[in-house]
Amino acid sequence: MTLRPETRAVHSAGADPASGAIVPPIVLSTTFEYETTGEDHHPDQLIYTRWQNPNRAALEATLAQLEGGAAAHAVTSGSAAMLTIFQALRPGDHILSSDDMYFGIRVQLNEFFAPWGLETTYVDMSDLKAVRAAIRPDTKLVILESPTNPLIRLADIAAIAGIAHENGASLLVDNTVATPVAQSPIALGADIVVMSLTKYIAGHHDVLGGAIIFAREDELAERVMRLVRIGGGVLSPMNCWLAARGLQSLAYRVRAHSENALQVACFLAEHPKIERVDYPHHPSHPQYDLALRQMSIGSGLMSILVKGGRQAAIDLVNRLKLFTSATSFGGTHSLIEHRESIEEGTSTPANLLRVSIGLEHPADLIADLQQALE
Ligand SMILES: Cc1ncc(COP(=O)(O)O)c(C=O)c1O
Repeated sequence: MTLRPETRAVHSAGADPASGAIVPPIVLSTTFEYETTGEDHHPDQLIYTRWQNPNRAALEATLAQLEGGAAAHAVTSGSAAMLTIFQALRPGDHILSSDDMYFGIRVQLNEFFAPWGLETTYVDMSDLKAVRAAIRPDTKLVILESPTNPLIRLADIAAIAGIAHENGASLLVDNTVATPVAQSPIALGADIVVMSLTKYIAGHHDVLGGAIIFAREDELAERVMRLVRIGGGVLSPMNCWLAARGLQSLAYRVRAHSENALQVACFLAEHPKIERVDYPHHPSHPQYDLALRQMSIGSGLMSILVKGGRQAAIDLVNRLKLFTSATSFGGTHSLIEHRESIEEGTSTPANLLRVSIGLEHPADLIADLQQALE
């Protein structure tokens, strides 16, 4: 029987063979008894939790299956996932990166990896001509987010995979905002997918985690696996368990985030005090056609530009009652954030608010925005 993703998500773990528990136990033991034979251990043998742990193995298997990859690694955060990839590159490698991205990754590249000999060129990935012009013979990796955080721009993943591969580079896609429910970068040609599990995957604002998924087990995948296990930035059993629990309801949560967000986007797009709404599945988005082609549904993340500039945007945040003024996205609670105030080295517009639509009733969220905009 071919099971659909929602069914697989619920049944992927199966009952615990030792106890019959349908919810898998959290294995906190850091060390595992093994037979001393004097021979090398089988790679799947449990020895020490930094190397592998049952909760991590289960989460990684589900993530690999969900993204259509050959191998997955669960690490301490989305930022740690990117850090590990950069550490696995070699001095002299060139990276071609989206010019809009979670700012922390740009800080990693500029502050820490440039002095180590990784050179990065930034380009608008929604402009394929610019991507073609910027890629070089020594480009090892092309990295992009689609949609981007915080400008909510899209990149044509299949087209950029083609450009990367023609030039001997690999393509890494950060699928955090889109989620694997809506977008399958590996099926579109990406070689590596990275996600912050902190957002939609765990989904309840209570887990920090990250994942790296490889389309195939190549040399870079092997280096990353060694770095994760030897370096030790692995996700704890508790957080693996929480992220795996989140995956069981991911498809339904993302559908609700998406439906709510579209209603909010439609309300805001018509409001006279809002200059612009950037939500890929709203027809006003300049890449609406690409959104429909590349993502089956939207997520809950959008950005809005408030008329009246920086102070008007900040005042709006402070008049809201249901939306929490907080960073992050992808969880149950609706959050709103003035990005320019918290991003380092930013060119984000001063009147931009990033909005994460949660799982509240959309009519309540719209009523809150309505009163705050009066
Ligand atoms: C698109 C994207 N990727 C990666 C990260 C980093 O994830 P984490 O906060 O889990 O380190 C973030 C964080 O906000 C993000 O928005």
